[in-house]
Amino acid sequence: MKKKQVILTGDRPTGRLHLGHYVGSLANRVRLQEEATQFVMIADGQALTDNAENPEKVRSHVSEVALDYLSVGIDPEKTTIFIQSLIPQLPELTMYFLNLVTWNRLKHNPTVKQEIVQKGFEDNIPAGFMIYPVSQAADIALFKGELVPVGEDQLPMIEQTNELIRHFHRIYKTQIFPEAKALIPKIARLPGTDGKAKMGKSLGNCIYLSDAPDVVAKAVKGMYTDPNHLKVEDPGTVEGNPVFSYLDAFDLDQAGLAEMKAHYRRGGLGDSLTKKRLLDCLQAFLDPIRQKRAEFAKDPQFVWQMLKEGTERALSVAEKTMAEVRAAMRLNYFS
Ligand code: TRP
Repeated sequence: MKKKQVILTGDRPTGRLHLGHYVGSLANRVRLQEEATQFVMIADGQALTDNAENPEKVRSHVSEVALDYLSVGIDPEKTTIFIQSLIPQLPELTMYFLNLVTWNRLKHNPTVKQEIVQKGFEDNIPAGFMIYPVSQAADIALFKGELVPVGEDQLPMIEQTNELIRHFHRIYKTQIFPEAKALIPKIARLPGTDGKAKMGKSLGNCIYLSDAPDVVAKAVKGMYTDPNHLKVEDPGTVEGNPVFSYLDAFDLDQAGLAEMKAHYRRGGLGDSLTKKRLLDCLQAFLDPIRQKRAEFAKDPQFVWQMLKEGTERALSVAEKTMAEVRAAMRLNYFS
């Protein structure tokens, strides 16, 4: 039998998951669980790197994110869903990886640099935050992840992971870890409802997978469009118009969408109609997700038991790899 590819991926539990997460990575995870060995990690440890003072926020979002996973169809029979902080081999491997990266390299990770600005850290960057790409490399390496379905912003993390893996192999003369490959979807990034490139909880420009119908309706109604499209008869611009970016991702009738775009460009198609179409598409997409979420939410014990079992499976994989790591590093004193 052909060996299945291993997928390792995950999310920080600092908020509920939104449409951007779905387009960026959840859709790929749901699809790939059929053919790969998939581990999906709830990265509570990584969430704490910039939320040390908010333990309750992180804790409550562990189950929220688990519900999001279950509701979109990540199936615990096919995918191992686990909690990062319960795998002590992760910080162990992180410690060893930290010796293989320079402080200067850490300072130049573009995603980290961007987040430092966004979060307003200035000169008060938590050291744990600075090194999170190394712990992320350990996440991937420990599970021998080959494919990492993530959003576009995570590319620098995968690059840094592979640098660490190669460095580790060179020094300790081993080949324990496969190289990791990021899996970025065709539509790599969904803009915020305000037209900004990045969706963010703090920006208030996201539509969440668990938002109620009226919340979604309000968000779509308030969506940014082409600011120069003032009268219905005016020609409008499709590019950079988030209503169309969302339709690209969620309208199942792509031929109809092409016609709508042409009509919008010519003039004569109002934003209320494009938004109406988008709202219909989104409600049709979200309805079954909401229903599933409500069912799982009724049974928190099932959700926690699922996480417990997933974490136990993850622990046994982690310990196996770590034994190989310790042997390669000459740390296997009593075995
Ligand atoms: N950095 C990811 C995020 O911001 C979460 C994450 C942690 C992750 N470890 C990972 C993603 C390993 C993929 C692989 O949400």
